[in-house]
Amino acid sequence: MEVIIAADGASVGRIVAGAIAAVVRRKPRALLGLATGSTILPVYDALEEQVREKKLGLEQCRFCLLDEYVGLPMRHPQSYWSFIQREVIDRFRLSSEAVIYPDATSTDLPLACENFEREIRDAKGVDLQLLGLGRDGHIGFNEPCSSLASRTRIKTLTAQTRTDNARFFPRLADVPHHVITQGIGTILEARHLILIAIGSAKADTVRLTVEGPVSSFIPASALQLHPHATVVLDEAAASKLSLGQYFRDAYALKPRRQGI
Ligand code: F6R
Repeated sequence: MEVIIAADGASVGRIVAGAIAAVVRRKPRALLGLATGSTILPVYDALEEQVREKKLGLEQCRFCLLDEYVGLPMRHPQSYWSFIQREVIDRFRLSSEAVIYPDATSTDLPLACENFEREIRDAKGVDLQLLGLGRDGHIGFNEPCSSLASRTRIKTLTAQTRTDNARFFPRLADVPHHVITQGIGTILEARHLILIAIGSAKADTVRLTVEGPVSSFIPASALQLHPHATVVLDEAAASKLSLGQYFRDAYALKPRRQGI
């Protein structure tokens, strides 16, 4: 894995937006795998800057969700479909039709999971998948002990994840228990994975993800198995890495045109 340590969240956002822009320049019809939550917002802010300055156009891209809550109507403000609608589709004046998402309102959820996988396959796979990191090590909503070969399916959230996400809901009791999430095996099929973590609350999990063994107990550690995985951190999230200085030096010495 390449590990990039940036000064702060805004710099993390600019680095990741630069990588997205490089993919889209190379392949205007790219399928971009989007993440939701707080960590990803500086990335969308930096993308907006690029679009405003006409360095990037997303009109031909398609977008794919990682996960969705089960039990929320699609247009509930905290559904991930709504999040992407707000933060990406409306913001960049794109079409909702460009979004591939699991239908978590279906009466047949296993079929909805299969359909979602098929849509990703039909679109020829994800070119670049953005990932946030749960404090318990989840990517998507693959909670600890998720199979490293798992496909899109229904998962139950851990108490820690529900507590962490309660900040988006009026009360903890309102946070759904169930989700549909791309599996770890599904995520690993994307051509490039970028995992982003910001803030000291993620530092222990970052260390286990990057420097610990590959283990289903820390699902994000599965990125170690991917041929093109990049971890982009701010200083606080990187603060517990024993190889922090090595990663800083390696990135500083890297020819810029090589990209990430
Ligand atoms: C969201 C998702 C989750 C979050 C993770 C971090 O689509 O799949 O894995 O990325 O829970 O959330 P934040 O960024 O809010 O700390």
